[in-house]
Amino acid sequence: MIAAPNINDPAFLENPFPFYEMGRALSPLVLHERGLAMVFGYEDCVRILKDWETWSSRFPPPPDAENPPEPMMLNSDPPRHTRLRGLVSQAFTPRMVEQLEPRIREITRELLAPALEAGRCDLVATLAYPLPVIVIAEILGIPPEDRERFKVWSDEAVASLGSGLQGGGRQLRQEIFEEMREYFTAMVEERRERPRNDLISGLVQAEEAGERLTFADLLQMLVLLLVAGNETTTNLISNAMLEFIAHPDELAKFEAEPGLIPSAIEEVLRLNSPVQATVRRPTRDVEVGGRRIPANMPTVVWLAAANRDPAQFPDPLRFDVTRTPNRHLAFGMGIHFCLGAPLARLEAKVAYEELLARATGFERTTEGPLPRVPTFIMRGVLELPIAFRVK
Ligand code: HEM
Repeated sequence: MIAAPNINDPAFLENPFPFYEMGRALSPLVLHERGLAMVFGYEDCVRILKDWETWSSRFPPPPDAENPPEPMMLNSDPPRHTRLRGLVSQAFTPRMVEQLEPRIREITRELLAPALEAGRCDLVATLAYPLPVIVIAEILGIPPEDRERFKVWSDEAVASLGSGLQGGGRQLRQEIFEEMREYFTAMVEERRERPRNDLISGLVQAEEAGERLTFADLLQMLVLLLVAGNETTTNLISNAMLEFIAHPDELAKFEAEPGLIPSAIEEVLRLNSPVQATVRRPTRDVEVGGRRIPANMPTVVWLAAANRDPAQFPDPLRFDVTRTPNRHLAFGMGIHFCLGAPLARLEAKVAYEELLARATGFERTTEGPLPRVPTFIMRGVLELPIAFRVK
């Protein structure tokens, strides 16, 4: 038995990978004293993610909760999940998302302009943070002057993600949720009066058409889109820069051939996954890898560990921008497969097409560990000061 680390500790967040290596050898870990199980191997993770009947995404509300709301899409099982996903899936198909490319490019150029003058920037503040926020805000139909408030909400909500497993944090989440609720209530009321060509109006119409979307569901959906899409894509863009700086020979390959950028982004997703883990609850006693996980025991599915499993990825620790196939689990798998994957991929592709067209010779301007997003669920840095030569 190995000692399970404190998974929200800064040292763990900096380098969780040795733990994954150990864990994979012993997977699954069933930590009875913590009431928690963990799964690390690719095959086991896939099996769990595909079997939603045995492995529920739904967790019982805390015993002290009064009138707990129905869970959001991410935390629900069919049939509720199917219905909610059906209402938004149209807006995020690869074809719909492709149409956003010119606008994404325009936003990226505007954001990068001052940095390209200076030859240096904090990549997070300059591009990785604002790009996804602006894009999702425009899809939803949120006015530009309200974007700053999103940072606060999104950061707080993400910070509370891991708290369910560690205790504490629930209160904060409730407060933030109330604030968001107030904001979106006003926005929804306005769309009822004057529908526009945006996603909020579309959801309001679904609610009005009685497609079994309640007002509470609608609000939760907006919160989910905001939270699920922003910090994750921010982390993808900044984790990519860290990998590219660490692997100049690989970077040179797609600097010479920009068509390789999407494949390089996939390799970042695999090796430096913005979402490291997700959680499921077995609806009955189950056996995984010869060990019994008791019904209802929260089970951490370590996507990032599966993404380094040598049984699935030859030479798994090598950062190889031409790796094919690359069936990583960074966006999950099965019915909850990331709704925003086409959008996240497009934003990261455009970000690097624009950066690499105008700049080269990227390097960090600070040394040592960078401040990190404070939860084991996510992997990302809060700032990334870099310098480069403008072409
Ligand atoms: C690099 C960026 C992203 C990563 C790594 C990521 C990762 C993930 C993962 C791993 C899941 C599955 C969770 C589970 O099975 O429990 C998921 C679900 C989801 N993601 Fe993303 N995501 C990203 C970007 C986005 C964006 C841009 C959006 C929104 C526009 C988004 C919206 C969602 C939603 C709504 C779900 C829940 C889907 C469902 O329950 O059916 N994500 N994401």
